[in-house]
Amino acid sequence: MKKLTPKDKPGEPVNTHSSNGNGRPAQAGNSRRDFLKKLTLGAGGIGLLGTTAAGAMSRRTPVMPAGGHILPDENTAFHFAHLTDMHVRRQRRGHVGYARCIESVNNLDPAPELVLMGGDMAFDGLYNEKDDFIDMIDLFVTESNKLKMPWYGCIGNHDVLGLSNRRKVPADDPDIGKGMMIEAAGMPAPYYSFNHNGWHFVVLDTIYQVEVEHGPSYVARLGEEQLEWLRFDLGAHQGMPTVCVMHIAAFCNMGQINGDPAALAMNHMVISDNRDFREILERHGVKAVLQGHSHQVEDFYFNGVWYITSQSVSAAWWGGNWRGFNPGYTVLAAGKDGSLNWWRQEFEWEHHLEPGDTLERERIAEREAFESEQRRLYEIEIGRRER
Ligand SMILES: [Fe+2]
Repeated sequence: MKKLTPKDKPGEPVNTHSSNGNGRPAQAGNSRRDFLKKLTLGAGGIGLLGTTAAGAMSRRTPVMPAGGHILPDENTAFHFAHLTDMHVRRQRRGHVGYARCIESVNNLDPAPELVLMGGDMAFDGLYNEKDDFIDMIDLFVTESNKLKMPWYGCIGNHDVLGLSNRRKVPADDPDIGKGMMIEAAGMPAPYYSFNHNGWHFVVLDTIYQVEVEHGPSYVARLGEEQLEWLRFDLGAHQGMPTVCVMHIAAFCNMGQINGDPAALAMNHMVISDNRDFREILERHGVKAVLQGHSHQVEDFYFNGVWYITSQSVSAAWWGGNWRGFNPGYTVLAAGKDGSLNWWRQEFEWEHHLEPGDTLERERIAEREAFESEQRRLYEIEIGRRER
């Protein structure tokens, strides 16, 4: 078995859960490294219009940073980035695309002080041979370690080995589950928290392992044990502005977005215990939850908590635009007054399809036809074109 490259775990004191979900002891004792380095000007990247902060958290309308340069704001304490659903793989040259993403983050000016990974970091342990999964994890970790700032791993549904009836490993393989990624990404546990510059960050695990008829599997859930831990973790950091990050969302409005009345409100796109979760966050005044999994941007504010779903680093698993979103990520500004702002950031990447990617080609053609029709309708509606 190929050796994985452990991440040099950065970070201030980490408040961890005590096991890694596979019954293995959690890693601990990683030393602090000073990753913060002054970056040069002239960064690449395409800044995109963000969405206004909601409610009391909105202190200004986010602006479109030009060329990756974030406009100075004297209230900003620090910036951080949320990178999710990178699905790092060799197919479609995804690993090269991820290297471009890392360059883009490193070139942001001012530099983010930390990067929160949002899960689905490697593509994928559910349906691939173990050696291939190890290779993808290795590619992810190697590139991520080129970040000039600390990064923090988070488990996504593709970051686990074999929790599916399509698994390519025996159901009793000792590496089934989350352990491989947790170890490689230097995570102290499947869920954990840490502090940075007066803010509290909580990384959660939405991949709840279960045993079903075909063997080990997962459901989208935090579970009672993790919720219990969360209650007291937030209690112990009372008064600190807090941001949570997790892979599968608490809220995802795919049904409404697609106008699909048959879509279930509670489905595999959201955690099943989101109400219990939401009430804990509301009780403790958590600022925001950063979500992934759907690869589509959403922004939902409810009872004081801001649920932000970032677009994905890989878009359609490196197969081109996904429902209007190119490869990209989210940048956030943490204010000295506890306020928060965010915007999305894309990076230059042209997709590379494989010869067998017929469905991707069809999907891209459909998308282009849709965009062309939208432009035609718009020109009619503004009087620039005849019906
Ligand atoms: Fe994903």
